[in-house]
This record gives sequence, structure tokens and C-alpha cells, in this order.
Amino acid sequence: RTTPFPFSVFVLLVALFNVSSADKLKYKAATKPVRLFTEEELRRYDGNREGEPIYMAIKGVVFDVTEGKEFYGKHGPYNALVGKDSTRAVAKMSLEEEDLTSDISGLTAEQLRSLESIFEGTYKSKYPIVGYTAARILNQDGSPNEDFKPEDQPHFHIKDEF
Ligand code: HEM
Repeated sequence: RTTPFPFSVFVLLVALFNVSSADKLKYKAATKPVRLFTEEELRRYDGNREGEPIYMAIKGVVFDVTEGKEFYGKHGPYNALVGKDSTRAVAKMSLEEEDLTSDISGLTAEQLRSLESIFEGTYKSKYPIVGYTAARILNQDGSPNEDFKPEDQPHFHIKDEF
């Protein structure tokens, strides 16, 4: 008695499928892919486009702060901070043009502590992370930063964009 699709063939196909899916798992990256933002890309999310999300980076971590539209939107008091990495401004509690930068050189220990506390206590706990700036992911020469680790944000279900 011959059947067009013998059981042994079925077993073989199941075995092959398992091997190939095991291989896929094996080659899956240890961490999820993350979105890399260039300065230019980050600039489009500066709160001035109606209906678009609003993004802001601190320490190279890009947060979706759209929920805080009343702070960050077009006429909000902190609109100057968005669409860019504003680490220095946050550390110094300043909205001066010269502080709207990721540069932390010369900050006092107190300012660095304050930065850390706002980064953790306000941004990481309130706003979902959507990516990282090149400064965080790449070295100065453009090679990948081997020490890069995405931030933990366990209470958020992070959108997998890929
Ligand atoms: C007279 C000066 C200021 C007053 C009265 C003030 C007041 C406030 C208040 C009441 C909040 C909390 C709002 C809320 O959670 O409902 C807040 C949040 C905040 N402030 Fe100020 N602020 C001042 C100056 C500044 C400056 C100079 C900066 C510069 C970086 C700044 C940055 C922020 C940020 C980043 C938040 C968090 C917003 C968020 O939760 O997303 N503030 N401010």
C-alpha cells in the first residue's frame, strides 16, 4: 500500500523545519535591534509638526515624549528641548541655546547627579524609548560601540519596529 505522502516523509519535513527554525534562533542577535537616529532625523520630531510624534534625546537615548505635549509641543515651555539631544540643558536646568547639546564637559558633580535623577525618575519612567543617537551606538570613528547596551525599561512594552 503506497500513500502519496508517507508518514516518514512527514517526519522528515518536521525534522527539517525544526532544524531550520533552530538555526534561525541561533543566529538571532542577543539583543533586539534598535533604531539609530541621526541629528537630522531627530530634528523632524521637534514638536512643531501637527500630529507627528515628539522625540527628545538625553544621554543619547531617544524618548517619545508625545504624551507630554503640553510641555514639549509647539507652544509648550520646554519645546526648545525636543528634536535634539538636550542632555546639558537638563543637567543644568537651563533652556539657553548654548546648553541645548549632548556635550556634558565641565558639568559639576551636582549637575551630573541631577541629570541622572531626571533621566531615571522622569524620562525612563514616564516616556518610552524609541532609539538611540549615533553618539551612543557608534564610536567617534564610526565603528560600532561594542559596549553599547540598550536601556532596560521593563514597565514599557517597547514597540519592535523591525
Ligand atoms: C521658573 C522656572 C520653572 C518652573 C516654575 C518649572 C515648573 C515645572 C513644573 C511644575 C513641572 C512639573 C510638571 C508636571 O509634572 O506636571 C516641571 C517639569 C519639568 N521642567 Fe520645569 N520649571 C521651570 C524651569 C525649568 C527649566 C529652566 C528647565 C530646563 C531644562 C525645566 C525642565 C523641566 C522638565 C524637563 C520637566 C519634566 C517635564 C516632563 O515630565 O516631561 N524646567 N517644571
